[in-house]
Amino acid sequence: MAPAHSSHQRDDQKILPPGTRNPFTILRIPKSPPIQLTNLSRRYGPLFTFRFPIVGSLVVVLNNHTVIHEALVDNSDAFPNRVTSPLRHKWGIKGRIVYSYKEEHKIIRQFVLDGMKKYYAGKLHEKVAEEARHFCTAVEEKNGKAFDPGFPLTLATGNINAMLNFGRRYEYSDPNLTKFMEAIDYLHVKLIPSALVQKHPGLYDTFLYRKLKESQEFVVNFICDHIREHRATLDPAIPRDLIDMYLMRVDEENSSENPLFVDERGWFTIKDVITSSSLPSAASLQWVIALLCKHQEMQEKIYEELQAAVGNDRLPEFNDLHKMPFTHAFLTEILRYRTVLPVVSREVVRDVIIDGHTIPQGSNVLINYWAAERDPAVWEKPDDFVPERFLSSDGKTLIKQDSTHALGIGHRDCMGKELAMMQMFLFGTTLLQKFHLKFSPHKKPPSMQGITKTVVVVGKFEVCATKR
Ligand code: HEM
Repeated sequence: MAPAHSSHQRDDQKILPPGTRNPFTILRIPKSPPIQLTNLSRRYGPLFTFRFPIVGSLVVVLNNHTVIHEALVDNSDAFPNRVTSPLRHKWGIKGRIVYSYKEEHKIIRQFVLDGMKKYYAGKLHEKVAEEARHFCTAVEEKNGKAFDPGFPLTLATGNINAMLNFGRRYEYSDPNLTKFMEAIDYLHVKLIPSALVQKHPGLYDTFLYRKLKESQEFVVNFICDHIREHRATLDPAIPRDLIDMYLMRVDEENSSENPLFVDERGWFTIKDVITSSSLPSAASLQWVIALLCKHQEMQEKIYEELQAAVGNDRLPEFNDLHKMPFTHAFLTEILRYRTVLPVVSREVVRDVIIDGHTIPQGSNVLINYWAAERDPAVWEKPDDFVPERFLSSDGKTLIKQDSTHALGIGHRDCMGKELAMMQMFLFGTTLLQKFHLKFSPHKKPPSMQGITKTVVVVGKFEVCATKR
C-alpha cells in the first residue's frame, strides 16, 4: 500500500492536502489519467497531491464537484491559466484561446463567443443539420453493410468547423479534409502534456518528431491559406465566417501600438477553436451511436419520441429537442457517463485554501471531471448508464441538467456547450429517423469503458444501419 502523508503534514505552517509519494503508483498515472486518479481519490479523498519522481512540481488533483466549484468559481482568480509547456511558449501563446493568460484570454474568448452568437445566430443549427444530412447520405451508401463510424464522424465534425471558420464544407472524399483531420488527430494524440518534446522543445526539430512537425506545419499552412484567401476577398458588409470577423477586428485595431489581433496570429485562434471542438465532438457522436446500439430499448423509445415530435414529413430541427425529454436526458447522460474530456489542468498563481488545505502558488492542478461525474455521493449507481436520472418522475421534464459539469465550469469552461448538444441531437435523430442501428453481428461489440487518449473514445467498432 502506498504511504500517505498525513493531511496535517506542514510546509511553512500550511496544511497541504494528503497524497502519495509511491513512485510505482505515480508512474502508472499517465497510462490512463482519469481512471488512475479516480482510484487514488477513493483512497486519499477529494483533494490529493503527488509529485512526479525527480523532476516534477507539486500536482494537486481535485476530484469532486464541491472542491472543483470552490476552486474554479469561488477562487477563480487563483486558477486563471492552463498549464503550458516550453514547447507551447516557443510557438507563442499570444492569440490562443486555450493557453493565453488573463486579459488576453478574456478578449479572445469573448471575440469567439460573440462571433458564434452574433454571426451564426439562427444559422448554426442549419449548418449542423446540413452536415447531419450529408452524414446520413454517406451511411445510406453503405446499404446496411457494417462500417466503422469513427473517422467518418471526425470528418463530419471537421466539416462543421470548416463551415464555421472557413465558410465552406468539403466532400468526405476530398483528400484535403482527410489530411487536415488526420493531422489534427495526430497532434492531439502526440502533444499530450507528458510528451518529452513539451519539456524539451529542441527535440521538435529532430527526426524523432518529424511527423509531428509535418502535421503541425500542414495544419498551420492550411489555416493560413484560408486566411490569405479571405483577406483577398473580404467584404466587411457581408462577413462570411469567423475568419472574416477576425480580419475585421484586425482592421479595427490597426492603429493600436500593440495589437492583439493581427493577420499572422489568426491561425492560433482558429486552430484552437478547431482542435478544442472537433475531437471531443466526434468522440461524443461515437458514444451516441454506440449507446443507441447497446441499449436497443432506449433506441426504440427515442424513435417513438421522434415520431411524435417530428414524424417523417420533415427533418428534425434543434428546437425539437425540447419536445423530446427522454432523448434530451439520454444525451445529457452520455456527457456525464463518458465525460469525453475527463481531466484538464490549471496553474495556481497564489496560495489558496481549498477544503481546508493550502494549495501553494506554483502548483499544477488537475481538475478530474471524470471522478466528479461518478462521485457516489452525488450520483446513484454512477457507473451505470441511466438517462432517467435526468428526468422528472412522470418522465416529461428534464431535471438536474446543471448538476453535470462534463463540459467544465468557471471562466475557462467549454465554449461550445450548445453546439455540442446540437450536434449530438441532430446527428442522432437524423440517423434514427431513417435507420435502425445495431452493432455488427460479425465483430465483438466495444466495451463501454472506452479508451482514454486525451479524449475518451469508444474502442474500434462497427455498426449496421438498416432502413426503417
Ligand atoms: C461533446 C463535445 C465537447 C465536450 C465534451 C467538450 C468539453 C470541454 C471541456 C471539459 C473543456 C475544458 C473545461 C475546463 O478547462 O474547465 C472545454 C473547453 C473548450 N471547449 Fe469544449 N467540448 C466539446 C465541444 C466543443 C465545441 C463544439 C466547441 C466549439 C467552439 C468547443 C470549444 C471549446 C474551447 C474553445 C475550450 C477552451 C476554453 C478556454 O480555455 O477558455 N468545445 N470543452
